[in-house]
Amino acid sequence: MSSGNRDWSEEDLRKHLVDARKHLWRESTIRRIVNRTGLAEGITAVDAGCGLGYLGWTFRPFYGGGGRYIGIDCSASLLDEAKDLSSEWSGGSGAFFLRGSVYDLPLPDRCSDLTMCQTLLMHLEHPEKALEEMMRVTRPGGVVMCMEPDNNSAMLAVPWGSQPSVSDDELLRRFRMNLIWARGRKKLGRGDWGIGQKVPKMMSDLGLRNVDVIHNDMPRFMNPPYETEFQRFMMDELRERLEKDEEGEKGRRAVQEKEWKECYLAGGGSLTSFYRSRRESRRHWEELKPILREQTRNGTYFNGLAGSHFYCVFGFRTE
Ligand SMILES: C[S@@+](CC[C@H](N)C(=O)[O-])C[C@H]1O[C@@H](n2cnc3c(N)ncnc32)[C@H](O)[C@@H]1O
Repeated sequence: MSSGNRDWSEEDLRKHLVDARKHLWRESTIRRIVNRTGLAEGITAVDAGCGLGYLGWTFRPFYGGGGRYIGIDCSASLLDEAKDLSSEWSGGSGAFFLRGSVYDLPLPDRCSDLTMCQTLLMHLEHPEKALEEMMRVTRPGGVVMCMEPDNNSAMLAVPWGSQPSVSDDELLRRFRMNLIWARGRKKLGRGDWGIGQKVPKMMSDLGLRNVDVIHNDMPRFMNPPYETEFQRFMMDELRERLEKDEEGEKGRRAVQEKEWKECYLAGGGSLTSFYRSRRESRRHWEELKPILREQTRNGTYFNGLAGSHFYCVFGFRTE
């Protein structure tokens, strides 16, 4: 069974599945999704690649009493934890977890009213196959729903904020490096970093009808005095990143570097340009770190709105 290319139960990845998830969508957007998809009490909802069951936690209030949530993931350790966490939001009943592959869901045909996933397709070698499998388990009239980002477009946003601006050449270097890396990542079967904008067409081609998109409108700016809970959360994350023990980080950085190099080369980049670009990135980061440390300490750090390219795409099964 393919488990995707990363082990999401590792501590630093796992953190994304808990803390950051609580700030992923505005409640008002979730309500719009519920209205448009017609979610109602008592339905059966399936979550493919459920991780720690965040989508169960998010949508549970809307299908609530009498409804069933079935989370499916390939990671046994995440599922164990998801089960424990779900006792809080499910009131101890109605949430079930199964181990299995999203390419071969351990469920009968047409058993689900809502089959959903989040940041799953972007990690898969064969996203269409997973979508087809999600359609198989969805009843006619039921909904298939995918929350996926287009990170290729998001990473082309021009940063603006309290940190020193960078030259056009430096911006282009970063864009080029990221694009080559993303192309290689896809080529190596590690998923499409820009999949978000492709999901509506994939769904239509596979036969879902009335395909529609709701944009994630969670704002990501940070301004002192950081009035929202989300801004304070992002500030904590930034401080943590800046204070990380460099020595302790070396092992993790070596793994990242290896992954970057593999993808960059597969994307058509040369070894020489890879090392040159990595040196530049490191030099910029080392120059930036003391400035950011100072700004996060004295509360002068701010940044503008980087592009948000994160979508909820849904369609209805006809027969
Ligand atoms: C980025 S995480 C997203 C988790 C969750 N949907 C969320 O939004 O918090 C991707 C999840 O997909 C799971 N996964 C990846 N490939 C899979 C596969 N082929 N079959 C089942 N689960 C898979 C991983 O174990 C991980 O939990």
